[in-house]
Amino acid sequence: MPVAFAPCLLAANWKMNMDHLQTLEFIRELSLLLPEKEAEGSGVEMAIFPPFTSLRTAQVFSASYRCPLSLGAQDVSPHPSGAFTGEVSASMLSRLGCKFVLVGHSESRKNHHETREELVGKVKNAIACRITPILCVGEKEKSVEGLEEICSQAEEVFCDLDPEERGKVIVSYEPVWAIGSSVTASPDIIRRAAGALESDLFGKFGASPKILYGGSVNERNIESLKGLGLGGFLVGRAGLNPAEFASIFRCLAGKE
Ligand code: PGA
Repeated sequence: MPVAFAPCLLAANWKMNMDHLQTLEFIRELSLLLPEKEAEGSGVEMAIFPPFTSLRTAQVFSASYRCPLSLGAQDVSPHPSGAFTGEVSASMLSRLGCKFVLVGHSESRKNHHETREELVGKVKNAIACRITPILCVGEKEKSVEGLEEICSQAEEVFCDLDPEERGKVIVSYEPVWAIGSSVTASPDIIRRAAGALESDLFGKFGASPKILYGGSVNERNIESLKGLGLGGFLVGRAGLNPAEFASIFRCLAGKE
């Protein structure tokens, strides 16, 4: 059975924030701010990406508080199991109810020096465990070469996937210069980047992945970004605060 998605994904990458007690508090507050009924049929799927140590708490308490959240992990091992100290496999994430996993976020690329083979392994292992990989791509500097850089980051993974796997990947455009900064990419830049990724991946592989945008999205700029026809948004800082996360959700769902 194919995995079902709402038309718009609002994903919160918590990075190395939120221990399990803070995760419980976030879910409790969000369930009060956004009752399950309000999220149903909204066309927007909310997902949180806590650290590994908070996943079990998120799984248990989003169910018991009836909080309308999907779960994702921030990384996954490129190996299915075995002697890989410190790594977490896709099947373990799947047992924790993860529907999504980030692959190749610019911070992991930089801090863990991920190779192309590792990125491909992560994507393949996630898909084999019915987890949707969100492959992050983004140019380091704001420049005209940026489009080539993001297309080649996506291509180098897509070229080693089979056609069925290509149909199961989400791509997130995340310009490195906009992440964790005070500037978001302009609607024009995002439109151009999404268009370049779409035509490149369709032209070379016949793939039409959902494209997200991430990089300093918040409750003040979401209004100007929501009309871009993207598949959703990946937020960092704005996803740590339940009130701001709920307000971005309401804007995307057309309720504000
Ligand atoms: P930011 O992070 O929203 O804090 O810029 C985005 C991301 O890293 O995905």
